[in-house]
Amino acid sequence: MQETLNYIQQNKQRFVDELFDLLKIASISADPAYSAEVLRCADEVAKHLTNAGADKVEVCKTEGYPIVYGEKIISADLPTVLVYGHYDVQPPDPLDLWRKPPFEPYIEKTALHPDGAIFARGAADDKGQFFMHVKAFEAMMKANSLACNVKFLIEGEEEVGSKSLEAFVKQNTEKLSCDTILISDTHIYSNEQPTVTTGLRGLSYVEVEVEGPNRDLHSGLYGGAVPNPIHVLSRMISKLIDDDGHITIDGFYDNVEVVSAEDRAEMNKLKDDPEAFKNSIGLKGTEGEKDYTTLERTSIRPTLDCNGIWGGYTGEGAKTVIPSKAFAKISMRLVPYQTPDEITEKFTKYFNKIAPDNVKVTVRPHHGGMPYVLPSDTKEFRAAKKAMETAFGKEVLPYRSGGSIPITAMFEQVLGAKSVLMGFGLDSDAIHSPNEHYGLFNFYKGIESIPLFFENYTNGN
Ligand code: BES
Ligand code: MN
Ligand code: MN
Repeated sequence: MQETLNYIQQNKQRFVDELFDLLKIASISADPAYSAEVLRCADEVAKHLTNAGADKVEVCKTEGYPIVYGEKIISADLPTVLVYGHYDVQPPDPLDLWRKPPFEPYIEKTALHPDGAIFARGAADDKGQFFMHVKAFEAMMKANSLACNVKFLIEGEEEVGSKSLEAFVKQNTEKLSCDTILISDTHIYSNEQPTVTTGLRGLSYVEVEVEGPNRDLHSGLYGGAVPNPIHVLSRMISKLIDDDGHITIDGFYDNVEVVSAEDRAEMNKLKDDPEAFKNSIGLKGTEGEKDYTTLERTSIRPTLDCNGIWGGYTGEGAKTVIPSKAFAKISMRLVPYQTPDEITEKFTKYFNKIAPDNVKVTVRPHHGGMPYVLPSDTKEFRAAKKAMETAFGKEVLPYRSGGSIPITAMFEQVLGAKSVLMGFGLDSDAIHSPNEHYGLFNFYKGIESIPLFFENYTNGN
């Protein structure tokens, strides 16, 4: 192991330089204008895997963006770890809030990253994180210390709902067969308190439309006598959550996992720092479901948020108009044992129920995803905890995250393997936001933890 760590130490700077090249590619999966960049990024990832020592590297075509595959099989008697990541990124908008252009990476120190952080779209989500695996693999190959078989599956559609991945996994169960799946696409609690993510929330995402009059109307001639779809929609949205922070949708909590008082006490060992939390996002106060801590509100409890709302006139100056239609996008984060189909159906029923008779309401479901839990009495959890404890020199706690990686549940179903979420970002890294960044400290700790995981997993019990 020492030789592997030495190799990492000696090649640190080059690893960052290579990551910079990857970050310069605008692989925005949501925007068709960037499709050539997404494809170029897949080719680059494949080259990196080949150079690092992977066999059978392939850029696999799908109906959407390609999936990059590579493997190193050293013995049929050893376990196989499948590494999953994504090379696509979120759109960088709004561009004017970036201090430097999103695809021109640079390093700068921040309060939480005194050693410096890499700023660029995708730095933490997920290029900087999956690239740690490529470099850790290179180090293990160079030091001849690879402890088990490894397979890489790096996709290009995660940020748009992993549309092609399920079919690909179903068609390639043999090729992808593995004992566990290792994913670095989440964050730790803090650099002082490292964590292994043991849960992710699911997702139900809908778009709603409220239609009033059959055309936009003069607000003087008609105002006062007709339903204004923007008002109606606003009233409906405000009815979805009550004063105690409870979601009012009929049956919404029916299947919600009741976390025991013991488990809640255990998870609250991660000290909530309400002041730091508020300050980090410029808030005077927080809010949420009554009787739960911020940590619980953002992990073991389901939520509902309006992500966008529009309608009517939003251009320069004033236009006196009552719009014909108003729209909103609404996301709900789910916990075990809610399912996206169940919640989307309950939302649709309820939203129609609270709609006044004088408007027409349409609910359009978008992509969704199942929640996921990795029990802490599993071999993969123990291997990750021990690896990170060695790398950080600190006790590592389990941590349930509020984000979603829907494919983890699909992997378990189709490949019969658990995913272990050994991510290294911080929640303040501004993923999906302007000035996304990833700490150099985190990048290197990740590269060091990965070979330790392989070793612990292979030799552990
Ligand atoms: N890597 C994130 C998810 C994440 C980040 C989980 C940090 C936990 C901690 C992933 O790329 C992502 O953005 N997922 C989406 C869902 C997806 C279906 C678009 C999300 O959580 O909004
Ligand atoms: Mn991600
Ligand atoms: Mn993301």
